[in-house]
Amino acid sequence: MIEEIRVVADDARSRLEAASSLEDLRALESELVGKKGSLAGFKRAMGTLDPDQRAEVGRALNAASAEVAAALVARRRQLEHAQRRGRLEDERLDLTEVRAGRDAGHLHLVTAAIEELEDTFVGLGFRVAEGPEVEDDWHNFTALNFGEHHPARDMQDTFFVDLGAPREVVLRTHTSPVQVRVMEDQPPPIYSVMPGRVYRNEAADATHLAVFHQLECLVVDRDINFGHLAGTIDMFIRAFFGEGYSTRLRPSYFPFTEPSAEFDVRRPDGSWLELGGCGMVHPNVLTNCGIDPEEWSGFAFGFGLDRLAATRHGVGDLRDLLSTDIRVLEQF
Ligand code: DAH
Repeated sequence: MIEEIRVVADDARSRLEAASSLEDLRALESELVGKKGSLAGFKRAMGTLDPDQRAEVGRALNAASAEVAAALVARRRQLEHAQRRGRLEDERLDLTEVRAGRDAGHLHLVTAAIEELEDTFVGLGFRVAEGPEVEDDWHNFTALNFGEHHPARDMQDTFFVDLGAPREVVLRTHTSPVQVRVMEDQPPPIYSVMPGRVYRNEAADATHLAVFHQLECLVVDRDINFGHLAGTIDMFIRAFFGEGYSTRLRPSYFPFTEPSAEFDVRRPDGSWLELGGCGMVHPNVLTNCGIDPEEWSGFAFGFGLDRLAATRHGVGDLRDLLSTDIRVLEQF
């Protein structure tokens, strides 16, 4: 019997040593080791032996079981090590792709546009403010005079966050809620610009992204009128694009402004780019933010930064702004 035990143990060991994956090893483990393993039969057969033989066979069986168990542990360690090495190899980044001799890249086109616009507005005496991307219904809609059933609250446009009461928390759909936060935080006069990322539940195409950027501008002071609004828009567009660009306003509707308009930029080739919305801050919005509309008036505008940056650099498809392909990035 001792001879048989040897043969079975050697066979078990060599099969364990030949296992080529942790999965195979697990299968072999349940086949060869433990109560149902290949050595278990000998244990049962030992009952039929006389006491002398039984002791000897018992020692041989214990030694054989220990060998098989050790072979299992050793092979598992080897396979785990190989798996870890393979994973590290897969995750390795080849940093030599950053080519020697080139300067170390540049800001993203949208980031560069934000910084440049901030500089333009700071030069005019504006301050820069920011707000959260996860917003509540009050700041994103209600304080901005959106009626309870306004279509923009629909699932179509808004990503709702599963937090708090149903539909209470959203990914902000525009930067206008930052207007509300600024007015809640400080008394007029207010001259602020508010850049940031916004979210709409829309399919991306050449002229739309589900995640994009806006810049919001808010002025609240005494005797502010529509002329100040039109002049400010025209001024910053010329400052940003340079000679040959101009602007126009078209009547429109937004719940938070009255009157409201959309503004377009005229490119040197005569074509028009629809850029954003604007208007005189609605008295209800001022009141919602604790500002007396009898004493103060204001204008606001907001527009998409991705389109602005794309137009400026001749990028025809907004989705190309998200490219990480070095051949795209190198062009700017
Ligand atoms: N928040 C508007 C949008 O995302 C754009 C807008 C319109 C902003 C009028 C304004 C404004 O500040 O006065 O469509």
